[in-house]
Amino acid sequence: MTALAIHRLCKVYDNGNQALSDVSLDIPEGSFYALLGPNGAGKSTLINILADTVRASSGAISLFGHDLLAERSWCKRRIGVVPQEMAFDPFFTPREVLAFTSGLFGCKPDYDWIDELLARLELIDHAKKNTRQLSGGMRRRLLVAQALVHRPKLVILDEPTAGVDVELRRRLWDFMRELNAAGATILLTTHYLDEAEELCDHVAIIDRGALLTARPMQEMMREIASSCLCLNYGGPVDLSTEIADKLATFEPRPSDEGVCLKLGRQQGGSTFHRAYQAAVACFGEPLDAGIRREDLEDVFLRLTGNGAAKRMDEGGDDAAG
Ligand SMILES: Nc1ncnc2c1ncn2[C@@H]1O[C@H](COP(=O)(O)OP(=O)(O)OP(=O)(O)O)[C@@H](O)[C@H]1O
Ligand SMILES: [Mg+2]
Repeated sequence: MTALAIHRLCKVYDNGNQALSDVSLDIPEGSFYALLGPNGAGKSTLINILADTVRASSGAISLFGHDLLAERSWCKRRIGVVPQEMAFDPFFTPREVLAFTSGLFGCKPDYDWIDELLARLELIDHAKKNTRQLSGGMRRRLLVAQALVHRPKLVILDEPTAGVDVELRRRLWDFMRELNAAGATILLTTHYLDEAEELCDHVAIIDRGALLTARPMQEMMREIASSCLCLNYGGPVDLSTEIADKLATFEPRPSDEGVCLKLGRQQGGSTFHRAYQAAVACFGEPLDAGIRREDLEDVFLRLTGNGAAKRMDEGGDDAAG
């Protein structure tokens, strides 16, 4: 079943900024979904529309088959959003904030769950402080607790780990994995692409308000990530125009040890052989050579670089989720 179906969503802000153009996305129930994009891509705009703090210009959204706008209160009780921006009343303690938030969702505070959230998010020692006494990372974790207080079926996290230290980030992700294993659908934005690759089973990439691709993570890494032939010459090689031209089909990229050549997406042995021979013709025999698979960050940079949309078109991608 689809947890969240977004159909042709557009947002133009009052000042004329087009933040989203025709974005369609299906988030399967039970998925751990990464929504990625460079700064200003439109991620928070999309999330804030889901959180009902920004109004869409056009398009339709349904949550478990219920229309988000027409059945707002039904949907609200099933979504928990961790916004990118933080705002708390500075005179409440974290425990009071969570009890108060329960009320906003029409629930009686469940103090066992609230205490579990405070413990899991490492806030229990700070539960009696006023929120203004919390550090930035603590406040962000309180935002996460706030989004979970009514046990939502869809958890939406807009950069929940910005400013959170490495150890706590790990533990936060462990907690999200548990919630996901227990049935919650999770939609996440982050600029930590290694974490997204490790955690998420689906990925969508948006850039300048438009969806570039949306697909299962494994399929993305299998079909879009390509391989690179990394050649070790014991130091940087001469990639002057003349030489770079000879290697142009392999999109040579300098590395600390020498050079990396991109092998075709569906490369066979012959592509490898041709790349290797071309490098030998330019630089001689390397000291060492290896093949490296592109990771999500490589793919992200390639897709969001200039001409990305064109390359996706050539690849026959339909950019539908
Ligand atoms: N309230 C607003 N009024 C006008 N334009 C806005 C407003 N909020 C955002 N924008 C613009 O909409 C576009 C998308 O912004 P958004 O915050 O959704 O990006 P983002 O993908 O979340 O970026 P980041 O990674 O920096 O958080 C940007 O061009 C931004 O300047
Ligand atoms: Mg944002």
